[in-house]
Amino acid sequence: MISVAIDGPAGAGKSSLAKRLARDLGYIYVDTGAMYRAVGLYALRAGADPADRAAVTALLPGIRLRLAVVDGAQHIYLNDEDVSGLIRTEQVGMAASAVGANPDVRAFLLELQRETARTGNVLMDGRDIGTVILPHATVKIFLTASSEARARRRWLEYQAAGRPESYEEVLADVKQRDEQDAGRAAAPLRQAEDAVLLDTSALDFEQSLAAMKEIIQKRVEGL
Ligand code: DC
Repeated sequence: MISVAIDGPAGAGKSSLAKRLARDLGYIYVDTGAMYRAVGLYALRAGADPADRAAVTALLPGIRLRLAVVDGAQHIYLNDEDVSGLIRTEQVGMAASAVGANPDVRAFLLELQRETARTGNVLMDGRDIGTVILPHATVKIFLTASSEARARRRWLEYQAAGRPESYEEVLADVKQRDEQDAGRAAAPLRQAEDAVLLDTSALDFEQSLAAMKEIIQKRVEGL
């Protein structure tokens, strides 16, 4: 079985690239950020501060997560409710980043992630896939881009969706999330020693996709 670990900061294009790659290669796409987002959403709904470790840890026994592929797209169920759309907001992204600093949350999600990787050839994206979750992944890619390039892409998506956030707000969020994700003690975002670094600041989607395919093919053919 082949596993491809894709890690990197928020907004580097991991999920859109990984989704397309999974389709092209016939692999299963696993979005681990969606799991953290679902936990973040649960905490917000429960009125807990996502950064309050004890409060969030106390909520974990009430959380059941399930991933399923519906019409080719990954859906995530939080206690049987499909929250795939609800988790795609800045607020839930921030909450996900905050609960991600909680080691109990990470331990809670670790087995689900490893279990999912055993179901077939997978492409898993997150922050600690190559370093913690799948240390023996067949291929590891660390996908990054400058904070300005990442903020600009996200802002353009928001503009297209008619959302009001300014570029400056999006850039501030990107920087705050970088700090939170890379600065935390538990499984911080970092490049695995054996990961291939791909900086997409100057690449468009198709170029990034081609570069990733090349990295994967080289490694898989070399097996
Ligand atoms: O990839 P994303 O933007 O959906 O992730 C949301 C947050 O979840 C991210 O800022 C940090 C956290 N996260 C994590 O800590 N570990 C992962 N493997 C995936 C996401």
